[in-house]
Amino acid sequence: MTSPEIILSTFPLFPDQASASAQRVDALYFALLAISAFFAILIFALLIYFALRYRRGANVDRVIRRTDYLKLEMTWIVIPLLISFAIFGWAAKLYFDLKTPPGSALELYVVGKQWMWKIQHPNGVREIDELHIPVGRTIKLTMTSQDVIHSFFIPAFRVKQDVLPGRYTTEWFQPTKVGEYHLFCAEYCGTSHSGMLGKVVVMDPSDYERWLREGVARESMSASGELLYRKLSCGTCHKPGGRGPDLAGLFSSQVKLEGGEVVTADRDYLRESIINPMGKIVQGYPRMMPTYRTQLTEDQVNEIIEYIKSMSGGQQTAARSME
Ligand code: CUA
Repeated sequence: MTSPEIILSTFPLFPDQASASAQRVDALYFALLAISAFFAILIFALLIYFALRYRRGANVDRVIRRTDYLKLEMTWIVIPLLISFAIFGWAAKLYFDLKTPPGSALELYVVGKQWMWKIQHPNGVREIDELHIPVGRTIKLTMTSQDVIHSFFIPAFRVKQDVLPGRYTTEWFQPTKVGEYHLFCAEYCGTSHSGMLGKVVVMDPSDYERWLREGVARESMSASGELLYRKLSCGTCHKPGGRGPDLAGLFSSQVKLEGGEVVTADRDYLRESIINPMGKIVQGYPRMMPTYRTQLTEDQVNEIIEYIKSMSGGQQTAARSME
């Protein structure tokens, strides 16, 4: 390698394009750069040209004529307007695609905390500051924070999403190249923010399967959730005809609340019901569930939710097939 090549490979101008969306994001970025550069150069060139042409002492016609400039003015209003609309449409389409995970994604859980990333696979394998994933699969991350706001940033995949305490955010991508990529926290989160780094390892599907099997043998997420569920005696009240709503078949169903409002029993709803049970009261049930805020970590809340999800039949197969 020549020395410029060595410098570029050590300090690349641009991160790898390693996800299905990377090229689309870059195309928009370069288009914006090109349009901005075009107009900046045009304006500066005219500025310099007129400054020289009409400099003091130059022998030029300086008479001001009252002319109708409507056509010219309309041109410089309408053309930039159309360009702005085109950019808006393009970027909005891309944004919605980047925010909407396609179905049948491999779902992983991420918990951010000062100062590490804790990741859990559905079969129970956990890792810290590392994310192992198979190439070609759509990966969806469900993320929350144990303390302050963090941000999960993988430059090579062109994805970055804030990770907030008290709620779930999601991020998805489809890795297209086997390799190792940087993982950063992109939200200032305290003393060791700069050390909140990790790596993403994209593997061949067969290597990934092997890696999953060799991972520290643990019970699956839903099995861990079931243990917690037993330990906390959730089933004492949550059973058919019990003092609390039956949890079988609850996930993704519609729940009618006191006062008539209907909500979907998604992750956020289940999390709120565990952490802040008085936030939403199911119609026909007493206000008696205690909060589990101090008894459960975010990982454990995720496990219980995974268990409740597994009680809704079909959802279970995705988690099981990972094992
Ligand atoms: Cu976590 Cu910065």
